[in-house]
Amino acid sequence: MKLGVNIDHIATIREARKTNEPDPVAAAIISELAGADGITVHLRGDRRHIQERDLRILKEVVKTHLNLEMSATQEMVRIATNIQPHTCTLVPEKPEEVTTEGGLDVSLNLEAIRRVVKRLQEYSIEVSIFIDPELDQIKASYNASANAIELNTNKYSLARKQEEIETEIQKIKDCAAMGKKLGMRILAGHALNYINIEKIVAILDIEELNIGHSIIARAALVGLERAVREMKQLIT
Ligand code: PXP
Repeated sequence: MKLGVNIDHIATIREARKTNEPDPVAAAIISELAGADGITVHLRGDRRHIQERDLRILKEVVKTHLNLEMSATQEMVRIATNIQPHTCTLVPEKPEEVTTEGGLDVSLNLEAIRRVVKRLQEYSIEVSIFIDPELDQIKASYNASANAIELNTNKYSLARKQEEIETEIQKIKDCAAMGKKLGMRILAGHALNYINIEKIVAILDIEELNIGHSIIARAALVGLERAVREMKQLIT
């Protein structure tokens, strides 16, 4: 399985002091050297961590694959079509949230999302949509012409009872199988860590995982190179 490393929280540390270190660009280079298959950043409307400057430089230096998480707003579409990362992942965004709270409701906003997907694809950007593992959302993402879907693993990651864990895994498995059958690439992510990753790695239809917080948290203690390498070993 491929590993996309989300480096937003390197920028969170920088923005805590509004200074120029640590630099997410350096983090991207180290992550790639440690085995990351892709680099993910979320440019938020409030610019709380990643800045446009980061995105511009990352587009130049990332050698693997740059994935931009973004809300489907006009502002973000303008930035994405200007910088042209390899992939854009459409996510819902609320200014007051600590992190992305759920998947995008593609069924409810199908026409608007389809227009954004088409616009990005005109610039040869592959479009992924972050959705909750629900069959309706898979069908809607397919109808929106998404190239890929990223299944939200948050509910699975928060589940504590064995029965609940198994229910969530089964949902992710079914959605991954359906999405793949429809010809979309299947990714997964959110709140995955070095322990809960095992059951997700067993779902063979998933080809890539996007992981941020747990890797950066470990990196703060043992170094980024080691934190990425250890996660990559677990998912390979
Ligand atoms: N995937 C998406 C769509 C996200 O919004 C996030 C959080 O930015 C992640 C993956 C990574 O989540 P975490 O930081 O919990 O690993």
